[in-house]
Amino acid sequence: MIVLGIDSSCDETAAALVRDGVACLSSVVASQVELHRRFGGVVPEIACRAHVENCPWVVAEALRRADLTLADVDGVAVTNRPGLVNALLVGVTVAKAVALARDLPLVGVDHIVAHIHASFLAAGGGPRFPCVALVVSGGHTSLYVLRSATDHELIGATLDDAAGEAFDKVARLIGLAYPGGPSIEAAAVGGDAAAFPLPRTSPGRGAPGGNTLDFSFSGLKTAVLYRAFGQDARPRQAVLRDPLAPVADIAAGFQEAVVDVLVRTTLRAAKQHGVREIVLGGGVAANTRLRESMRRAGGRRGLRVVIPPRELCTDNAAMVAVSGWFRLRDGERDGLDLDCHPRPVRASRD
Ligand code: KG4
Ligand code: ZN
Repeated sequence: MIVLGIDSSCDETAAALVRDGVACLSSVVASQVELHRRFGGVVPEIACRAHVENCPWVVAEALRRADLTLADVDGVAVTNRPGLVNALLVGVTVAKAVALARDLPLVGVDHIVAHIHASFLAAGGGPRFPCVALVVSGGHTSLYVLRSATDHELIGATLDDAAGEAFDKVARLIGLAYPGGPSIEAAAVGGDAAAFPLPRTSPGRGAPGGNTLDFSFSGLKTAVLYRAFGQDARPRQAVLRDPLAPVADIAAGFQEAVVDVLVRTTLRAAKQHGVREIVLGGGVAANTRLRESMRRAGGRRGLRVVIPPRELCTDNAAMVAVSGWFRLRDGERDGLDLDCHPRPVRASRD
């Protein structure tokens, strides 16, 4: 079964073709980074207009690269949550048009779950169950335990900033370009993390009823502000100049603190839930330090760590096609009244 996947949930317009949920035939992503860069973040109105312009040719290009036509497609999967509703609406409308015109089954997909399902496209094969999955993106930092590809339970989440959001905000603070993740990763090369030590926060630890698998990154961002610019610094100050430490050290220290917390918490989750497999997904999973650190730490404990290739960690539609394939395979269908939602679906076992 060949599934056409479409994603327009944030600032990338993406289309892809995937066979049987495991073989990526093509994946096209039209990035809007240049449009949003001078604003330091995604401007929803600009994102929507760009999706309208890009979506038709991105779908056509995905078909061209796979050497297919719509006549070869067996189903259409589209992200319909979570995300910017007006942005989601563009991809959903195109998906409905294709489904209607070609009389194809249509399914809506949750973007966060799709980030987990990207692991089925990893070299070496997808995860075996049960497993623990960490999704680290611009909007989410969430830990799930999966008993099958479609049975996921949320076991930990950020209480404030998402990991990617923290990367973006700290980058802005220290004068690095948007998006902050790749900028911080590049700036950290040659930096000395030990020269700029930062706290590791695990919010629920030790608190009565506290969830030891939750995350918190907003305090870390504030710690960077005070350590880099002094106790009098204020986050909304227009321009913060002359940090008290080299930018490379700040970037390395921050990256190390985030990676450390993500790895430790994920390993704790695997132990608590008695699983032997870990899945990593979402834009921050493109970070080399995180990928290496998770692999090394997991390997030391005899855990199998599944991480999709970098380009399938950041937003793409191949993961949407995989996720849709699971629903289509199970005989699920959505109608042409499929809605868009800003929030994720509740996990199947929340
Ligand atoms: O999954 P994604 O592409 O979009 C969302 O669903 O949010 O994630 C985007 C986030 C951004 O915050 C970006 O700064 C971060 O992923 N990111 C990275 C890297 N590449 C992207 N963070 C750390 N290191 C990277 N190499
Ligand atoms: Zn994403």
